[in-house]
Amino acid sequence: MPNPNRPGPNMPNPNMPNPNRPGPKVSVASLFATRLYRADNSPEETTRLNRELGASIRSFAEEDGAGIAWCEENNYPGYTSYSSLFDLPLRAPCFGDLKKLIDRHVRVFAEDLHFDLAGGKIRLDHIWVNLLEPGGFHSGHIHPHSVISGTYYVEIPDGSAGLRFEDPRLGLMMGAPLRRSDARTELKPFVTEFPKPGMLLLWESFLRHEVLRHDGTSPRLSASFNYAWK
Ligand SMILES: [Fe+2]
Repeated sequence: MPNPNRPGPNMPNPNMPNPNRPGPKVSVASLFATRLYRADNSPEETTRLNRELGASIRSFAEEDGAGIAWCEENNYPGYTSYSSLFDLPLRAPCFGDLKKLIDRHVRVFAEDLHFDLAGGKIRLDHIWVNLLEPGGFHSGHIHPHSVISGTYYVEIPDGSAGLRFEDPRLGLMMGAPLRRSDARTELKPFVTEFPKPGMLLLWESFLRHEVLRHDGTSPRLSASFNYAWK
């Protein structure tokens, strides 16, 4: 039996304004947007590029002694060139091609963000590669000293880890309730993207994110980068 005290199909919800009754006009705006840029680049554009990038990443993972030592010291589950190689676009032509592709998307994203660059430019500051072994993860972090950060995905085996973004205001929410599981994406405190080869994600560098545990059976290969305002 329907409960007469609960709003139902024939009973207006008293919590919502009734548009047919006279009363104040009500609207809800979304303020302080957090933008996430996603480009699903086509296989035609990325298959050869990804093959070359994959081969380069694997050769760095075997030959970059300083990077391998850094990964061991810092318990990185695989290999990253983050602290050892700072000239990837000059080192192999495929990284020069990748830089051109990312530059193109960063320009579009900077427009979308309505940045007033005041005569300056958003330029690549650092690009590095990641070879994440099965079982590996990368805990929550931001990218300091930059404006736009992102990742390009090279090899994404089945079971690959997602990238989870966190609402930057989470620490301010104190007594607020959790959001319903069916909340709109823009209202969720955590949003996870699941990469595919050739996909590019861009976000503002303040946005905290983490790579969830990689449950694939082979390494997950990607290139991450920071762009700064210069
Ligand atoms: Fe990151």
